[in-house]
Amino acid sequence: MENWVKVLANTELMNNNCAAVSVGDLEIGIFRVNDQLFAVSNTCTHIGAPLTEGYIEGMDVMCPWHGAKFCLKTGASRGAPAETDLVSYPVRLIEGDIQIKID
Ligand code: FES
Repeated sequence: MENWVKVLANTELMNNNCAAVSVGDLEIGIFRVNDQLFAVSNTCTHIGAPLTEGYIEGMDVMCPWHGAKFCLKTGASRGAPAETDLVSYPVRLIEGDIQIKID
């Protein structure tokens, strides 16, 4: 069974902005860029910076601590110093709620 979880009201996340949310033990960053929504793990795979405190660059997020970049669409690392990809979550907008799918 699909498990979609509301994480924010649509009005809580402006365009070209992001928000940190917790779902159980998961720390997740919700990003809205060019009116598209993305959800990825909010913990940098280098040594753990919160990525929602970083910088949005195009469709990437740059880590605030050492500058690693990750693709917001897929969670893919763009290279050193973070060698491991982020977990990416499906995200949708339903009746004014931003929801993510947790397996
Ligand atoms: S903690 Fe993100 S690049 Fe080092």
